[in-house]
Amino acid sequence: MTDHIKIEKSDGILSLTMARPDKKNALTNAMYGALADAMEAAETDVSVRVLLIRGEGDMFTAGNDVGEFAMMATGAFQGERHVGRFLQALAKSSRPLVAAVQGRAVGIGTTMLLHCDLVVLAENALLSTPFVNLALVPEASSSLLMPLRIGYARAYEMFALGEAVDAKSAFTWGLANRVVPLDKLDTEARGLASRLAKQPAGAVSATKRLMRNPELLMAQINAESEQFAARLKTVEAREAFMAFAERRPPDFLKLAAS
Ligand code: COA
Repeated sequence: MTDHIKIEKSDGILSLTMARPDKKNALTNAMYGALADAMEAAETDVSVRVLLIRGEGDMFTAGNDVGEFAMMATGAFQGERHVGRFLQALAKSSRPLVAAVQGRAVGIGTTMLLHCDLVVLAENALLSTPFVNLALVPEASSSLLMPLRIGYARAYEMFALGEAVDAKSAFTWGLANRVVPLDKLDTEARGLASRLAKQPAGAVSATKRLMRNPELLMAQINAESEQFAARLKTVEAREAFMAFAERRPPDFLKLAAS
């Protein structure tokens, strides 16, 4: 159980809010677990017609909790890991997913958007996938979906250099449906979710199934997860996590490729 995911249901919309604003909504194992539980339950709840994903505070999410990455790298992390269930729930969701994004969406904060069917960005949104900066590899089948969506050149630059993409570019590149002023974000996203909720649910779900292939996505997620787990344990990754904890830039030049 965690208080860092808020779940509300009304008018056919299940709203999932990442609510750890003091840590920029960085996602912990417990938060992945709560998100996965809610999404799995939604699959058999006929009263849920649309899912809305949002973040509390000034940012959508700063991505995976880097402290937990460091614990996994050293073997200090104990217990069941839930991120895999969350990725599976994203890839397999039969319900439409709508996202409302303000401020930064880092790592999985951006890659989860590739699984969302409607994405609304606030004008201050900044999307980034700095996996390589952390000596890791892309996840959530983003290594497949990102180049398909925005082309290899842009996707490679996002992954390998980790630079943030602003809302206007993200919209132009096809990563989002709307860019709105920050104070209109919730209204716009809820408005779209509400319109989807009123559409015939069977046809909405069948359309999504025709447009997305969960089996293909899961195969990519599994391949990425294997690489990701191996990279977590490298000296490069250890340097990246230590640098984050010490609030300094990492120095990869002192390391041979591992
Ligand atoms: N994991 C764990 N804690 C995080 C975090 C993360 N991914 N992102 C932010 N935090 C914490 C910070 O450590 C800080 O905690 P403290 O107040 O106890 O020191 C707090 O959240 C505020 O973060 P701060 O860095 O001061 O905010 P900012 O607005 O200056 O910068 C970010 C925001 C997102 C640019 C910056 O925090 C960042 O780069 N985070 C790491 C992002 C990342 O690499 N994610 C993994 C991607 S795979």
